[in-house]
Amino acid sequence: MGSGSPLVTIDGPAGAGKSEAARALARRLLVRYVDSGSIYRAITLEALDRGFDLDDTQALQELAAELKIEVETDPAKPPLVKVNGTPVTTRLRSPRVDETVSLVAKVPGVRQAVTRLLWDLSQGAVVEGRDMGSVVFPGVRKKVFLDANFETRVERRSRQAGDWGSDSTEHIEEDLRTRDEIDQLRESAPLRIPQGALVIDSTRLSVGEVVDRIVLYLNSK
Ligand code: CDP
Repeated sequence: MGSGSPLVTIDGPAGAGKSEAARALARRLLVRYVDSGSIYRAITLEALDRGFDLDDTQALQELAAELKIEVETDPAKPPLVKVNGTPVTTRLRSPRVDETVSLVAKVPGVRQAVTRLLWDLSQGAVVEGRDMGSVVFPGVRKKVFLDANFETRVERRSRQAGDWGSDSTEHIEEDLRTRDEIDQLRESAPLRIPQGALVIDSTRLSVGEVVDRIVLYLNSK
């Protein structure tokens, strides 16, 4: 493993509220914040821009290994992701990336490259994703799995869609269903509840309430 262990991992499916909660938690604790999904999205965007065949796992793996990806980890600053020096942040949430990111993220060689980057970035940080507590940082003491019912997750995504470039509710539903399935069924690091994780159902909780629960958990033995 790289330079050190994160403070806490937060995993869960799309729309469970991970990003908002993880960012707010990091701000409250004055630590760094790492959104691992944004790295998978950046690699996907680059593969699409270069016109890659997304079935070509060898090419995807080589691309992931060669790209220079930089991410802003200060939760008080706006999110920023750069690929080979070019900011791509505003393009990471396009429907095209939504539709294809899980296909890129299931390639083991891509996951290896991202995992290495995460090991370098995450010391003392709040890190969020799908396999943070189960595969990338299995030794971390504090792990959270954040979930919410499907309807709520779709509703949240629909509200966010306005900020990220509009998308219809039906399309969002389909996207979440497809990604849930690929993320849960893939062979390499599938989405699952890490052993010993605190499971929070955020269906009826605000971001502040989720953060409060995690802070209590972090302060417990
Ligand atoms: O924000 P949202 O939950 O929609 O997705 P994200 O966190 O940006 O992640 C996008 C996709 O990247 C997921 O659907 C997964 O396919 C993949 N991913 C992953 O495989 N492992 C991670 N640690 C994070 C994301």
